[in-house]
Amino acid sequence: MEEKLRSQGWFGRPGKDGFIYRAWMKNQGIPPGEFEGKPVIGICNTWSELTPCNAHFRELAQSVKNGIYEAGGFPVEFPVMSLGETLIKPTAMLYRNLVSMDVEESIRANPLDGVVLLCGCDKTTPSLVMGACSVDLPTLVVSGGPMLTGRYRGKQIGTSDVWHFTEEFRIGKMSQEQFTEAEACMARSRGHCAVMGTASTMACMVEALGLSLPGNAAIPAADSRRKVLAQLSGNRMVTLVKEQLKISRILTRQAFENAIITNSSIGGSTNFILHLLAIAGRLGVNLDIGDFDRLSATVPLIANIQPSGEFFMEDFYYAGGLPAVMRELGSRLHLDCITVNGRTLGQNLKDAECYDRNVIASVDAPFSTLHGMAVLQGNLCVHGAVIKPSAATPQLMQHSGKAVVFDHIEDYKARIDDPELEVEESDILVLRNVGPKGYPGMPEVGNMGLPKKLLEKGVRDMVRISDGRMSGTGFGTCVLHVSPEAADGGTIAIVRTGDRITLDVKGRRLTLELSDAEIAARKKSWEGSFKAATRGYVSLYQQHVQQAHLGADLDFLVGGSGSLVTRDSH
Ligand code: FES
Repeated sequence: MEEKLRSQGWFGRPGKDGFIYRAWMKNQGIPPGEFEGKPVIGICNTWSELTPCNAHFRELAQSVKNGIYEAGGFPVEFPVMSLGETLIKPTAMLYRNLVSMDVEESIRANPLDGVVLLCGCDKTTPSLVMGACSVDLPTLVVSGGPMLTGRYRGKQIGTSDVWHFTEEFRIGKMSQEQFTEAEACMARSRGHCAVMGTASTMACMVEALGLSLPGNAAIPAADSRRKVLAQLSGNRMVTLVKEQLKISRILTRQAFENAIITNSSIGGSTNFILHLLAIAGRLGVNLDIGDFDRLSATVPLIANIQPSGEFFMEDFYYAGGLPAVMRELGSRLHLDCITVNGRTLGQNLKDAECYDRNVIASVDAPFSTLHGMAVLQGNLCVHGAVIKPSAATPQLMQHSGKAVVFDHIEDYKARIDDPELEVEESDILVLRNVGPKGYPGMPEVGNMGLPKKLLEKGVRDMVRISDGRMSGTGFGTCVLHVSPEAADGGTIAIVRTGDRITLDVKGRRLTLELSDAEIAARKKSWEGSFKAATRGYVSLYQQHVQQAHLGADLDFLVGGSGSLVTRDSH
């Protein structure tokens, strides 16, 4: 086995090079035996106090290490840039691709035989998986786990309540004191958002792909069994290296289909589409935005979790978690896909049980008839747009209305609460210049708050359209990821207040009710307001970011370069 170990290209060398590779490691108190042909397992850690959802990852890394030592491996922990969804401006999504480069180059440049990815807050999962795919070593994901369910004045709460509370606060139904009190009630334990937001969706995604041990998605961060899973993952990782089960063997086209079907059944975040497309692109797996609609169309929504449903991730775990959902999906999935524990998906799911049908319904009696995901086409989104019917208003799934256009986010913020704003409940709010290139980074503003004067009348949802994203914890009839974006000359750039727009979710259409000639004439005279950054990463990003329907990866990062490094450093 030793000659197969990549790390021996560093630590197994005689002479000066080997001396240098080993000597400086020994200043950490590492005994000689660790360098003698043991699998070297990297633990890619996104711990940061600026990423509160991942702030417990040092402890988690220790559990992974324990497992690696136990199985005869040699663990080495390394940091990468960590993306905290709540603090990073202008949006963590701007840096997903940058982190993926950090991860890719860190893995390839170092003496690693395999890698455990510690992922939690939204973008920390796709960025790490994307980077690892471009190197293609044996790879396993350990997620940080969701927070415990929040409690506020006798009521269970989670991140989706941020949007409810904000509306109540804006119209004076919630005081500043109550609003502040709710902060600590919601985030009352370690872990990521406690609903089926993007972080939980990503944790489910890696489990459905077969990249984590079964049960990874739902164990709460504060539950001792999270550490057990981390230790077992470290232990398994050593064998994964011995078997040379590389990530590209796990992430087949069939595995991606499993993830899409599973995501639809749990009402996962719309961000899932962007991230899965970007991951597939790194491996050369042929996946396009149409696959999401085709594969999701007949999948019943069975996980009754907020924001599509009623319960929280903690309840999901107690009800059986993702294995119970996937067992319920049964033959809809490719059960012969191999997973990181060396068993097939079907073998992993064989004994999975559901313990609470209120939380995980059956395929025959889903808790809702609405679908988790739909992809729209039409002259307003020539390359596609996305909507999450399960978190929207059924009555608005077929709707025509007059556009009320906001040219950019500052325009929206300046006018949305203006009593003079001409807007009615049946109108359609359009927000542009919040796409990948235009903002830049495609922020989560697509579920823009409703005009205050309509909130005061009791209106709680309207059709909203943007070239931006929506938080996985968000809800509402929001058409997102309109592609091409305004900054790239998409039709959304030339919509004017007063134009009519038709949303037809059943027919999968989004139409600007103008003639082709009028659209062409407006595009011809369109000048645009896009101003590119002139230096640094943001400049690179704006020059190379792809549109949303392709996953918003940088064009030169698509694909991989493998793990081979032919030149030495000394
Ligand atoms: Fe980190 Fe929601 S803010 S998962």
